[in-house]
Amino acid sequence: MIKTTDYANLGFECRETHANYISYYKDGKWDEGMMKSDDCIKISAFSPALHYGQEAFEGLKAYRRKDGKVQLFRPDMNAKRLQDSCKRLLMPDVPVEKFIDAVEQVVKANEDLVPPYGSGATLYVRPFIIGVGRNLGVRPAKEYIFSVICSPVGSYFKGGLAPNKFVITEYDRAAPNGTGNSKVGGNYAASLYPHHMAKEMGYADCIYLDPLTHTKIDEVGAANFFGITYDNKFITPKSSSILPSITKKSLMYLAEHELGLEVVEGEVYIDKLDIFKEAGACGTAAVISPIGRIDMGEKHQIFFSETEVGPTVRKLYDLLTGIQYGDIEGPEGWTRIVK
Ligand code: PLP
Ligand code: COI
Repeated sequence: MIKTTDYANLGFECRETHANYISYYKDGKWDEGMMKSDDCIKISAFSPALHYGQEAFEGLKAYRRKDGKVQLFRPDMNAKRLQDSCKRLLMPDVPVEKFIDAVEQVVKANEDLVPPYGSGATLYVRPFIIGVGRNLGVRPAKEYIFSVICSPVGSYFKGGLAPNKFVITEYDRAAPNGTGNSKVGGNYAASLYPHHMAKEMGYADCIYLDPLTHTKIDEVGAANFFGITYDNKFITPKSSSILPSITKKSLMYLAEHELGLEVVEGEVYIDKLDIFKEAGACGTAAVISPIGRIDMGEKHQIFFSETEVGPTVRKLYDLLTGIQYGDIEGPEGWTRIVK
């Protein structure tokens, strides 16, 4: 693994850390959990996580504040979403308190690796759960591992607030009544090929359409889509096959309460993208990446500018990151200092 020296130029890669967390579920209950220093896990080769994708994960960040303290952004929302993913894949719930405690133990053990305030980098925290133990038939495991690992990271999409271009893919990452709204490994396995194709063609990522009709935007790679219309509405797709993004929910609140925009979760038809003056991709890893251009076959749509971020997307970015880094006080309960 790569040692971290240059926080200003970090990409989204695995870096060396000091410690991670692991907890075992056996005979219907979780153990206490413990910290360990190496990132290897020994499991049976028959484990359902390996063959049938019985796995779910989360992603959240630890932010270095100006006063040197470290804080988390809405970790309770990640804990609850992991519970939803676990239900869908018949895995046992990780209690919210256990989830937050594990995340905090990992952040504390790697405190010196939380990048400095102002570097634009953060400590990315990756909780996950896998079904383990000897099993052959397609059925849920009897034993599970819940683990939390981390790595210092920089931008997910290159360029920070510089707009990126995306291409519509004909592939789907999820099925209409499948697992698109759960954060489970299978969705990401399905996304590897279309993501690769988009990168080969020079795009930052691909845009998935709704799997039923292929007429509406669902997701932007591993991020949600939002657009700002010429009549000042914040519109984001409503779909049962997209991941309910915590960043998106936070932006919906900020757009309405701080910027006074009308917020709509609705249909985003690809043949009506010209209603948007600005657009963005949002997520924990992506933060907000302005969408400069979307290509779709012969046609394309440009939003604001292919080289500069638009004013509303910038305001949302400043508000969101201001809260995440502790410069702006957010709504009650949005941030949690790691003590
Ligand atoms: N969509 C997908 C497919 C994702 O993997 C993510 C990342 O978690 C998001 C959207 C954004 O969700 P969040 O803002 O909760 O990180
Ligand atoms: C996140 O934004 O946390 C993600 O999980 C996206 C991706 C790296 C899978």
